[in-house]
Amino acid sequence: MDALLDQAVGLLRAGGVVGLPTETVYGLAALASQEHAVRRIFAIKRRPSNHPLIVHLASADAVDRWAKNVPDVARTLARAFWPGPLTLVLERTAVASDAVTGGQDTVALRVPDHPLALELLRRLDDGLAAPSANRFGKLSPTTAQHVRDDLGADVDLVLDGGPCAVGVESTIVDCSKGAPRVLRPGGVSGQALAAALGHEVPVAVASDVRVPGALPSHYAPRAGLILTTAERLADEVAQRQSWGAQVAVLSAGAPPLPPGTLLHAWSADPAEAARTLYAALRELDARGVDVVVAVPPAEGGLGQAVRDRLQRAAAPRG
Ligand code: TXA
Ligand code: MG
Repeated sequence: MDALLDQAVGLLRAGGVVGLPTETVYGLAALASQEHAVRRIFAIKRRPSNHPLIVHLASADAVDRWAKNVPDVARTLARAFWPGPLTLVLERTAVASDAVTGGQDTVALRVPDHPLALELLRRLDDGLAAPSANRFGKLSPTTAQHVRDDLGADVDLVLDGGPCAVGVESTIVDCSKGAPRVLRPGGVSGQALAAALGHEVPVAVASDVRVPGALPSHYAPRAGLILTTAERLADEVAQRQSWGAQVAVLSAGAPPLPPGTLLHAWSADPAEAARTLYAALRELDARGVDVVVAVPPAEGGLGQAVRDRLQRAAAPRG
């Protein structure tokens, strides 16, 4: 792995893009200081260039290079959750380029909790701009193989750090405009944020920020996705089967289903559901099912993030 890390450092310094394991999902990384490489990320993802990227840092010590007027609340959150699945949006300094920030006056920062990502960042002495390593609007990758399947030869190297331990993207908290607000629920639960700060952190209205994860349809599988309740599940499945669709079910436990229905049972533990969500949807796509009927987990803990991703994946596609 040491030789691979050296190779990654060389590629990144030469303007390359590298598949990067993190604890949430795999990223598509370039040196934040190299505008040309950052623009390549947008081209590979086919992502609109005004959608800002997260800058990944080796430690909280680097924050003041990238951000100014950092409020105490942001320092408290960084101390509580870094390295970890939390992204802080802060007022930017000139170090954060327009290519990374989409021309906004803020920058998103996070210290990932993955040994390979941290070791790479330490060797680089720069930030890594990295969105999730999937094409725009599609499912995020949680293994190195997912990245290779999606992006193939478009990426110069994929570092294999094993399956992601968290499985959904980081929680994004905007600390740049007064009281903190959650822009995207993710790997740090609302309860954990509240416990660290001693008060609830409200979720922002999606329409007033440029967060692609906040577009109605996002994180979508190829198959159609229908959300329902445990009570309505069997009827929803039977109805679609009567139309001739090949239906798969994503649900906790062993619900009663029409014979022959493909069941992907996931854990009643929402953290476990988060960890396996994207891989489950990919697997059902690979099996060629037409429709996935899913019963979202309860709101608590990472349930909120799983419900958010399922809702976006189920939204009408543009
Ligand atoms: O867990 C994660 O956050 C993963 C891993 C790779 O770190 N990254 C990730 O990146 O999910 P991406 O690009 O798929 O989503 C980043 C989100 C986008 O919705 C983007 O709009 C938002 O962060 N974002 C970035 N900079 C921002 C800013 N200055 N203000 C508001 N939102 C910002
Ligand atoms: Mg993404």
